[in-house]
Amino acid sequence: MTPDPTWWRDAAIYQVYIRSFADSDGSGVGDLPGIRSRLPYLRDLGIDAVWITPFYPSPMADGGYDVADYRDIEPQFGTLADADALIADAHELGLRVIIDIVPNHSSDQHRWFQAALAAGPGSPERDRYIFRPGRGRDGELPPTDWESTFGGSAWARVPDGEWYLHLFAPEQPDFNWENPEVVEEFEDILRFWLDRGVDGFRIDVANSLKKDQSFPDVGAEDEAILVAHEGPDHPFWDRDEVHEVYRGWRSVSDAYGVDRTFVAEAWVDSPERLARYTRADELHTAFNFSFVRAPWEADVLRATIDECIAAAAAVGAPTTWVLSNHDVTRHATRYARLDSTGGGVSDEARVGPDTPIDPALGLQRARAATLLMLALPGSAYIYQGEELGLPEVVDLPEDVLADPIWERSGHTVRGRDGARVPIPWSTDGPSLGFGAGDPWLPQPKAWSALSVEAQDGVDGSTLELYRSALRRRHGDAALGDGSLRWLDGPADALFFERADEGSRLVCAVNIGPDAVPLPAYDEVLLASGPLDEDGALPSDTAVWLRPA
Ligand code: GLC
Repeated sequence: MTPDPTWWRDAAIYQVYIRSFADSDGSGVGDLPGIRSRLPYLRDLGIDAVWITPFYPSPMADGGYDVADYRDIEPQFGTLADADALIADAHELGLRVIIDIVPNHSSDQHRWFQAALAAGPGSPERDRYIFRPGRGRDGELPPTDWESTFGGSAWARVPDGEWYLHLFAPEQPDFNWENPEVVEEFEDILRFWLDRGVDGFRIDVANSLKKDQSFPDVGAEDEAILVAHEGPDHPFWDRDEVHEVYRGWRSVSDAYGVDRTFVAEAWVDSPERLARYTRADELHTAFNFSFVRAPWEADVLRATIDECIAAAAAVGAPTTWVLSNHDVTRHATRYARLDSTGGGVSDEARVGPDTPIDPALGLQRARAATLLMLALPGSAYIYQGEELGLPEVVDLPEDVLADPIWERSGHTVRGRDGARVPIPWSTDGPSLGFGAGDPWLPQPKAWSALSVEAQDGVDGSTLELYRSALRRRHGDAALGDGSLRWLDGPADALFFERADEGSRLVCAVNIGPDAVPLPAYDEVLLASGPLDEDGALPSDTAVWLRPA
């Protein structure tokens, strides 16, 4: 790859959820050779980089976010040689590779955790995790009231009576980031992968590593939910001390050259708290989840965009934009809700089998939202399948649900599997081209018409909309990094101009119920849907214009 110190400032990055992208061996589960075989598709889509969700050896208690060995590959996903070949092929095609790193917790099968269990209370082995005696007469009560993000206590008891902390599933014990051995181990893991040529890391729950060492009670029932609460007073979310870790990580990556990059997954309350992760000596970028949470309402979207750009700019960082990922309801379905305008990503806000939705409305809004996102300054994340307009699968049979949330909630919260159904590549075949076997989650029959094969080359298809938008984003200096200028327009619409190096582009998005007149323009470059006969911009539609 040609070194480029700022590529991440305006990159379009495609998220591959490895289990569900492409299955090369008919196992029903996606794998590295599968991804490798689809790299030309990704290059043609027009993205700059791929982010691959965890591919490490894992018992899959949380879909691979329970890592048993950070320096190897899960056998069902392939081998280290497959990873090397994938990185090499991607680079050959001009695509960068970002991998997932999971520093808050390991799998309970990790050799360190097994050693901790064997060594007993007070041992150096236990000190790599967070073990504590319980409360109550015989230590039968958990050490604090902290709750797991997936439901239930965040503490589990081991046979000798001690408890260990797991902010997620019990199979995901939290590391003790006060222990220098943990700090060194992760810096070494980063070097292991940087040496193999990866271009960056997506940091899983980057905001939770440091815990209040006085282990206070939280005192509220719902404090540990995934959409976390703001630090620095919270006992484990977004504490100020966590930033030390990332200053260390930044010096590791800088030693490999300026174009290795980090993106933090940090569910924090405000754009200002988020920006702290992207200060000059810390991480390059952080996912901007304010945008995912925002409902389809013009005033909220505009305020969110302004706040996020301003907070990131205050520390010299670009912002990022995300509409969908493997943890939230796909945006084509979020925006399809008839009982709300589609904001929110908590368990309560998820779209379920009984939520009233209008799928056609959702897709129309999703396409408009995508043109909005891709016109904003900063980098943008595309979650596999959104370029096909895939909806959330809201009615997966209960017996296939694999998300630990389903079990941990006593079968009351279905969890995230509906966003993780394998991708349809072709119009027929046992798994619509995903692989030769039955996919690990069943695909709806209707997905044949949404497959890559069905949309490829079809004018107006969602796939071709993404391709055109990404191609233009690449070739047009007005798009990508920089700033935006709001233009006057109707209250329910967002009109803004991007300009750079003599190129100007206007994005107009109509979020209200009635058609609105477009701002003055020379040419319509791209539209998320047909314009009205009189040239007005219909409801839930976006256009990119060459201004007059
Ligand atoms: C992140 C991941 C999510 C996982 C959790 C625990 O939020 O995106 O999928 O369950 O971390 O590792």
